Amino acid sequence: MATVPDCNTAGQENEIHTQYMSTKINAAITAVGGYVPDMILTNAILERMVDTSDEWITARTGIKERRILGDEKATSDMAAYAIQNLLENTGIDPDEIEVVILATSTPDNLLAPSAPLAAQKAGLKNAWGFDFNAACSGFLYALSIAASLIESGRHKKVLLVGADNMSAIVNYEDRNTCVLFGDGAGVVLLEPSKDNAAILESIYKSDGSGVQYLSVPAGGSAEGTTAQTLREKRHFVIQDGRTVFKNAINGMTSVSKELLNKLNFTIEDIDWVVPHQANLRIIDAVGENLAIAKEKVKVNIERYGNTTAATLPLCLWDFHNDFKPGDKLLLTAFGAGFTWGSTCIVWGTLRNKK
Ligand code: ACO
Repeated sequence: MATVPDCNTAGQENEIHTQYMSTKINAAITAVGGYVPDMILTNAILERMVDTSDEWITARTGIKERRILGDEKATSDMAAYAIQNLLENTGIDPDEIEVVILATSTPDNLLAPSAPLAAQKAGLKNAWGFDFNAACSGFLYALSIAASLIESGRHKKVLLVGADNMSAIVNYEDRNTCVLFGDGAGVVLLEPSKDNAAILESIYKSDGSGVQYLSVPAGGSAEGTTAQTLREKRHFVIQDGRTVFKNAINGMTSVSKELLNKLNFTIEDIDWVVPHQANLRIIDAVGENLAIAKEKVKVNIERYGNTTAATLPLCLWDFHNDFKPGDKLLLTAFGAGFTWGSTCIVWGTLRNKK
């Protein structure tokens, strides 16, 4: 347990819980896939829904448009489409997939995990699966879990999906939040490493006092759904944007520097930074604090907005043609909880067809 003063939000010293993962997991990301819905919600459409402007949204967030799933489908559908995209692009037999981990904050149902449903919808007959929730840090946290299942020797092919149907929990009358979020799913395949590809090191942190600044207050076990919670729209995302903003920059910066120190790396050792896509100004500030060249920082927020657990795998899917075997990627995320962390991976050879 360590105290990080510049991440203190509540005016008193918060307890930051830190976990160092053991050095170098011999598992590799060997394929990527993704899915975003066809429906596009542009800033121009939002201008007609709430008191906002394309100019404000672009300048304050960098977002131009986001994808919306619609009422007919759910998170498990997006996860299944992303898995099918990966299988089609690699030719891998669905029967070979052994595990599906689904990082999400928006499962189809509160009771009954969505991973088994996603596996069924994707036609994976031999996979067991479970959901994992660490909000925007979900994919990053679960990457070590997925990789550990490989390194332990128990499994040979594990799919890690990050998927969120944020439009289901966003209040489209609240301009503070509705401009930020979008829907999407990304997936990676983890297998035993055949080259130098590896999950080098991870540092994960959490601070439970952060829940007051970003959550869906009602609908869980703390505050059940009632007529009043519905009237007060407490089943939607609420957040103190400025506090989250400040903590996201401080958290991703400090944990990334800590990780580089632990690895005895300087920022020159890193080929690409792949940050959680919450706000372009957060991404730019973290990049500047780490003193990394802007062209090495991957950004697609202008097209998708903040897709929560899906931002990192969607970036890996979007930009995988830019990564070469042997490249070192620094992945970093910050999310509700608060949860945050950084992971350094060595990229390997992908099974994806060019
Ligand atoms: N359009 C126009 N005006 C707006 C809008 C909007 N969509 N939203 C807020 N405003 C107004 C506010 O009401 C405020 O007006 P006021 O001064 O009259 O009160 C003014 O704009 C400035 O508000 P700020 O909160 O200072 O704006 P800021 O520059 O901090 O940007 C934002 C707000 C975009 C929410 C920013 O704080 C942010 O991105 N925070 C991080 C939130 C986030 O990404 N959360 C997601 C989950 S966690 C994660 O992924 C990191």
